[in-house]
Amino acid sequence: MRLAIYPGSFDPVTFGHLDVIQRASLIFDRVVVAAAVHAQKHHTFGVEERLEFLRVSAGHIPNVEIVKFEGLLVDFARSRGAVAVVRGLRAVSDFEFEFQMALMNRRLFPGLETVFFTPKEDYSYLSSRIVKEIARLGGDVRAFVPECAATGLKAHFSTPEARAQPSS
Ligand code: PNS
Repeated sequence: MRLAIYPGSFDPVTFGHLDVIQRASLIFDRVVVAAAVHAQKHHTFGVEERLEFLRVSAGHIPNVEIVKFEGLLVDFARSRGAVAVVRGLRAVSDFEFEFQMALMNRRLFPGLETVFFTPKEDYSYLSSRIVKEIARLGGDVRAFVPECAATGLKAHFSTPEARAQPSS
């Protein structure tokens, strides 16, 4: 049983994330999509809401499990018996951070491989941050995120206070 963890903020999940989940589900026996309770970022959505968007949009894939995790990714990966960490690599700009994280995770847990998936070209420019910026300024994001997340973004940015916050 080859189990992979796909960790991330998923704040909110985009079609790029869903594309990576789909690809990983074809390669690994089981994919655990793990939303970080606290990444090194301010989250727009609480973890339960981020999980809900993931469940609604990817919960139907039989070998995909959606959970939250806290603490070090390597500890979570070890506790689940994972052989790999999945990450999406969109462009060269992702590379430096991903390379650093992959090497650090390997140092902390040598048995864990990081495997990169390249999302469909149509999604290579997508990020949760840029989608939030569009939603914050009143743009239509339904081409970039699942319906539930688009509705969540619209509701979130319905107040002047939320619109005044720069997207993280
Ligand atoms: O979607 P993101 O924000 O790029 O995901 C980053 C995430 C959650 C994968 C990363 O911050 C993480 O693994 N956090 C858990 C804490 C940890 O293990 N940090 C050390 C990573 S080398």
